[in-house]
Amino acid sequence: MADQVIFKLIEEEIKRQSEGLEMIPSENHTSSEVLKALGSRLTDKYSEGYPGKRYYGGCEIVDQVEDIARDRAKKLFDVNHANVQAYSGSPANQAIYFALVNPGDKVMGLGYYFGGHLTHGLKVNFSGKLYNAVQYTTGQDGYLDYQAMAKLAEKEKPKLIFTGATAYPRIFDWQKLREIADLCGAWLVADISHISGLVVSGDHPSPSGIADVIMTTTHKTLRGPRGALILCNGKPSTPLKAVERTKDNLPTLIDRAIIPGLQGGPHNHQTAAIAVALYEASKPSFKEYGHQIVKNAKRLANNLLDKGYDLVTGGTDNHLLLINLENKKITGKEAEIALGKSGITVNKNAIPYDKRPPFDPSGIRLGTPALTTRGMKESQMDIIADWIDQSLANYRDDKKLAKIRSEIREFVKDFPLPS
Ligand SMILES: Cc1ncc(COP(=O)(O)O)c(C=O)c1O
Repeated sequence: MADQVIFKLIEEEIKRQSEGLEMIPSENHTSSEVLKALGSRLTDKYSEGYPGKRYYGGCEIVDQVEDIARDRAKKLFDVNHANVQAYSGSPANQAIYFALVNPGDKVMGLGYYFGGHLTHGLKVNFSGKLYNAVQYTTGQDGYLDYQAMAKLAEKEKPKLIFTGATAYPRIFDWQKLREIADLCGAWLVADISHISGLVVSGDHPSPSGIADVIMTTTHKTLRGPRGALILCNGKPSTPLKAVERTKDNLPTLIDRAIIPGLQGGPHNHQTAAIAVALYEASKPSFKEYGHQIVKNAKRLANNLLDKGYDLVTGGTDNHLLLINLENKKITGKEAEIALGKSGITVNKNAIPYDKRPPFDPSGIRLGTPALTTRGMKESQMDIIADWIDQSLANYRDDKKLAKIRSEIREFVKDFPLPS
């Protein structure tokens, strides 16, 4: 008899997702084809190594799967090498450090409380413990301060600069970031985890040909399974050879950092699901999807600005909004809880120069990728902005929040999860 407990919980989670509005900007809803590949027999197979160079027999099928995933990733992001084996974004970033610098070397990344990721040098993360991490920030206006960054790079001379973010609503100027890295001869890494779907759709400039290494998770705007791609250019990888840290050797450095450096057997079911997601992302309809994510985020932003909300940087260029709630006299934690009761899932988030503690910061972060997958457009954003505003204005009124929740439950019936 099947495990009644876990399958019941899975059903409950599907109900939770379908009856509510998922507005955490790093989340999305995958297609049923991606789910099918992810739940396939490929999970049973061991295949340490790379296609054609495995430590296990019986890899002739999974070799083809991984080759297809790599080829699709290379084509979509316009690079000549792709590693698709990292289990997720954090180990992918760990592999990049491992490939490019030594423990104790100086590295530079965007501060966690300014929108950077844990792996960009936070003191309590491996990246801040194993490496000598200095952190850059945004200006008071919430925009990246490229001038201050350049000064810091010249002073500190890091060997590697991580760029990209987990909570930044504006465009990254890759060329400017390249110039900053060149001031001190640092490797430039572009972590496009949040925006890779928008890079594919052309709604955000691509760092391809500018950054030395590009990393993206596959489960955010790219709408695949959990996983990551590490992308670069250079000579064909020769994973079994020790090599010097040169640009030409980047493919080999990255592949060796993943295995034997960091991981064992690749998750072949995950690789297959990534390949399916990349196939979907190569279709013209995905471009439309990316455009709509941004249109929806901008519409939501304008609605909330009209209602007196203080958006960090005054708006958005991408899929996410960072709202400073100080003027609304509600904390990020209270807002997350109230919106949750209404059926709107968001996360509390620090805002630049936040005066409040990280576990109860002044802001929330929300985004449109998952709603857009369900087919919602600008007119739905108008309605959702009203619900957000009403929930926050009545955050102590459980009856009001329950009423909004039942309205949302009706509303989403027209926008099912992908089937
Ligand atoms: C910019 C960025 N890099 C890396 C990661 C890490 O990805 P994962 O959660 O898959 O380890 C995230 C996840 O939120 C992210 O936003």
